[in-house]
Amino acid sequence: MMITLDGCGPLYRQVYRGVRDAVLRGQLPPGARLPSSRALADELGLSRTVVLLAYEDLQAESYTETRAGAGTFVAPQVDHTLLSKAVSNDGLSNVLAADAAPRLSRFARRAMQQKPEAVYEQKQDSGLRFNFEYSVSEQDAQVVRLWRSLLAKHVTDSGAFYPSPQGELSLRMSVAKYAGHARGVHCDPGQILIVDGSQQSLDLIAKVLLDPGDRVLIEEPQYHGARAAFLAVGARLDLCPVDADGFDIALRPTNYEPGARLVYVTPSHQMPTGAVMTVARRLELLAWATDNSAYIVEDDYDSEFRYKSRPIPSLHSLDMHDRVIYLGTFAKAFSPTVRLAYMVLPAKLVAPFVSAKWLSDLGTPWLAQRALADYMDAGHYARRIRRLSRRYAARRSSLLAALRRYLGDEITIGDSSAGMHVLIWLNRIPPDRLPALIRAAARREVHLHSVASYYMNPPSRAGLLMGYTLLSEEEITEGVRRLGALLERFCRTKMAG
Ligand SMILES: Cc1ncc(COP(=O)(O)O)c(C=O)c1O
Repeated sequence: MMITLDGCGPLYRQVYRGVRDAVLRGQLPPGARLPSSRALADELGLSRTVVLLAYEDLQAESYTETRAGAGTFVAPQVDHTLLSKAVSNDGLSNVLAADAAPRLSRFARRAMQQKPEAVYEQKQDSGLRFNFEYSVSEQDAQVVRLWRSLLAKHVTDSGAFYPSPQGELSLRMSVAKYAGHARGVHCDPGQILIVDGSQQSLDLIAKVLLDPGDRVLIEEPQYHGARAAFLAVGARLDLCPVDADGFDIALRPTNYEPGARLVYVTPSHQMPTGAVMTVARRLELLAWATDNSAYIVEDDYDSEFRYKSRPIPSLHSLDMHDRVIYLGTFAKAFSPTVRLAYMVLPAKLVAPFVSAKWLSDLGTPWLAQRALADYMDAGHYARRIRRLSRRYAARRSSLLAALRRYLGDEITIGDSSAGMHVLIWLNRIPPDRLPALIRAAARREVHLHSVASYYMNPPSRAGLLMGYTLLSEEEITEGVRRLGALLERFCRTKMAG
């Protein structure tokens, strides 16, 4: 029998592919007898074990069958005429190459346009010493120790059952207590849906509330994860500019109504500008949503960290007409790797969201939910937030002091009264030179992010998002000093140019 080995991967897979190709091309027709494993091994100059392994795989995939005492035969039901239509003259392996461009749904094509892999790449650990990464908390030994013991406690109970698609009741009860106390989000555990991160909340919102062509009113600039989820289902985004007082419904497009079915906002710390939405604007937005039967998504992603004494109440707490879908996440004050978050839903939306969640993954992993419920009930989560808030307040002050000292008039600093990052605008660097500045900073061990990806319409200024949660106060000062020196060089070369 003439079979060709393609030289790729383990020998037994090469033999397998050689025989399979011969079957599918019709060179070995249904019912044909294959050479014995010994004879083929001799013919190919291989060990018999290699051929036996290949024959095992061929039989497991029903290309062949073994008849006791008679040998191995091509299975009678393999219809090579159908399969050979998919095979080009260059050989069967091209079937796989052709698969490289499969026909995708509109949803998948829109999802790929959002370039999720680029966002993921950006958020990987740069390994640089002065890491101004934002929106992530440091882990400490205390959390690791507690988490390990809580997981160990519950791992013995995790048996042969599926978790509730709505989320474990114990965690929903802990969340209801926490959200009511910390954010004035008063709700019944029955209104809570536990999800695999806020990104899943956004994906479910897009699927449950939007059809292609539906409009979403969204902040400009906006969180790109929300933008991507809405665009992927074919929604149209209407942009509403954000100023120092946050989102302003009065700035919606003219002659708007009937407009958006959904409004997406980050009122307690606008992502990325940091603006905190005023109470007056919150009330106006709620009134507009009520009049227009629109839902408001309140993404309260990092509201745990506030550095001015009086917090502004959540939108949810001001909502008398069930217009707000509240999103909270454990990614910021606990860890992004556990992928746990929650939605607080108007009662009428619970059933459709639970159905969509069930379709998506049958339920969030059980073990981490149980461990987190214990962690919250024992007061560890509240204590961790208090501990981190103190640390972050000191680091934020160091960052602001260093920025004023080393960058002074070169920058304009955005609102920094809450959250885990500050947005700074570079007064003398044009936006097209920012990537070069970021690369040069990396050569000096300083890791920075541009704000540009948060805009649908590119900003006219160069902006940097600077996190301060992963660095000590000394590291922050030194990192900013390096940035200041670099900026001075950049400005000098520009003048010289
Ligand atoms: C505004 C906003 N919402 C949601 C998220 C994502 O949250 P999660 O990790 O829970 O999906 C982020 C992440 O940084 C964010 O900035």
